[in-house]
Amino acid sequence: MNKVQWSDALLLGYEPMDEVHRAFVGLLAAAQEAGDEALPHAWQAVVEHTEQHFGREDEWMRRTRFSSAEIHMLQHRVVLNVLREGLAMARAGQYPAVREMAGELAAWFAKHTQSLDAALALHMRRQPMPQPSRARARQPHASTH
Ligand SMILES: [Fe+2]
Ligand SMILES: [Fe+2]
Repeated sequence: MNKVQWSDALLLGYEPMDEVHRAFVGLLAAAQEAGDEALPHAWQAVVEHTEQHFGREDEWMRRTRFSSAEIHMLQHRVVLNVLREGLAMARAGQYPAVREMAGELAAWFAKHTQSLDAALALHMRRQPMPQPSRARARQPHASTH
């Protein structure tokens, strides 16, 4: 099986994305190390994190009108559907199939990160900083002073 492992080759230099990717690698590694009993729960954590991970990237692409958004978002959709099928399999006790899927996901992730995500990270690094109004909204009591 293809074991997922963090390596600096996965670093894209856009911290919000690198942070999500590090967390993803941690969760996928945990799923790959999980025994049968723990696998459904560990796989569920991978699926839930991936929903957020892809959702966040999709939102960046939509917000900044990224030119390759369509193909990138399509890959996210397809992969997420497969992972959800994997969750059904894990809950049905089909552990070897889920382990195979985990290995394929690890290989896919490395390729995806170094191609489509790398292009998106470069694009995001060139974006202007977030709007001041958004930054202000995050500060507590900003409206009362
Ligand atoms: Fe990503
Ligand atoms: Fe992506």
